[in-house]
Amino acid sequence: MSRIFNFSAGPSTLPESVLLKAQEEFLDWRGTGMSVMEMSHRGKEFMSIAEELKSDLTELLNIPDNYKVLFLQGGATGQFAAIPQNILRGKEKACYVNTGAWSAKAIKEAGNHCDVIVSADAKDSNFTSIPDYSDWNVDENAAYLHYTDNETIHGVEFQDIPSFGDIPLVSDMSSNILSRAVDISKFGIIYAGSQKNMGPAGVTVVIVRDDLIGNADNKIASVLDYAQQAKNDSMLNTPATYNWYLVGLVLKWVKESGGIAAMQQHNKAKADALYQAIEKSSLYSNPVNTAVQSRMNIPFVLSNAELDSEFLKLAGENGLSSLKGHRSVGGMRASIYNAMPAEGVTALIDFMAEFERTHG
Ligand SMILES: Cc1ncc(COP(=O)(O)O)c(C=O)c1O
Repeated sequence: MSRIFNFSAGPSTLPESVLLKAQEEFLDWRGTGMSVMEMSHRGKEFMSIAEELKSDLTELLNIPDNYKVLFLQGGATGQFAAIPQNILRGKEKACYVNTGAWSAKAIKEAGNHCDVIVSADAKDSNFTSIPDYSDWNVDENAAYLHYTDNETIHGVEFQDIPSFGDIPLVSDMSSNILSRAVDISKFGIIYAGSQKNMGPAGVTVVIVRDDLIGNADNKIASVLDYAQQAKNDSMLNTPATYNWYLVGLVLKWVKESGGIAAMQQHNKAKADALYQAIEKSSLYSNPVNTAVQSRMNIPFVLSNAELDSEFLKLAGENGLSSLKGHRSVGGMRASIYNAMPAEGVTALIDFMAEFERTHG
């Protein structure tokens, strides 16, 4: 068996020990004689998996008692629609910050349910920076303020938490949840799809403050309604049981690896090394303002785009896969989530240097 270094933006690489554990338990989970996939979600075996999943996430992220933790389906995209339907609370407006492709999708979906105020827009910088908070136009009568903590395609990441009085802050953390410490108490809602830092695709984590629950639009689909899902322990409909189990294994891996503090250190070291290699090269460059460069998704372009396909081909031959940038921005992108080992980043840096020596 040989495994490559997979820089895919999501679904993305998983810790090898998690895959091995799942393999070991595949046919017979802890002497039950069944695969987790075959268990009733109401049975005591699966209930224990579900309880540990919730308590491990709560512990890792230090989630305060006045928040509900939901494990839903429909991805972050489902939440783009669920959020306004749940928390407009009779208001007609919501504020959104546009920092790239994912915020734009959230804005578009919200527009089906309320008036969207675009409080700040990074379009003029071609989504390579985040407008200064002092320039944001936040309406205090809006129901909430939404932003995308890490723009997966553009490689732009907030380095701190914006604060605008009492307006509930809602953040899409799909591509950086669990990668660094976050003060949950500053947020109304944090949501994230699982397929980057938490496991395979198929689970959507929603962490929502209690006071925002219970005022949903009366036409909301039940599966999107936080109150109904919270009351039913996220089992209003049949949950993605095997994916919950796999996310649970990833959370155990994060705990065993030293928790969020260790992830933060590990991610910073990897990202610093790759940014430095790009900085000192004359073939590669990263367009993002250094103050907001992402630690998770690192886009870079080659000064001669004609070399792109050769770069990708040779990278693949050297066991470095999925480095092609998103079609909307071109170039390359290395996604280096929690599960990307330091050796993967070192192998990429070495390959990039060798490619520059031979092609630059
Ligand atoms: C920041 C961000 N938000 C939302 C999404 C959409 O997630 P999903 O496809 O799970 O709906 C993605 C997917 O890559 C993402 O990176």
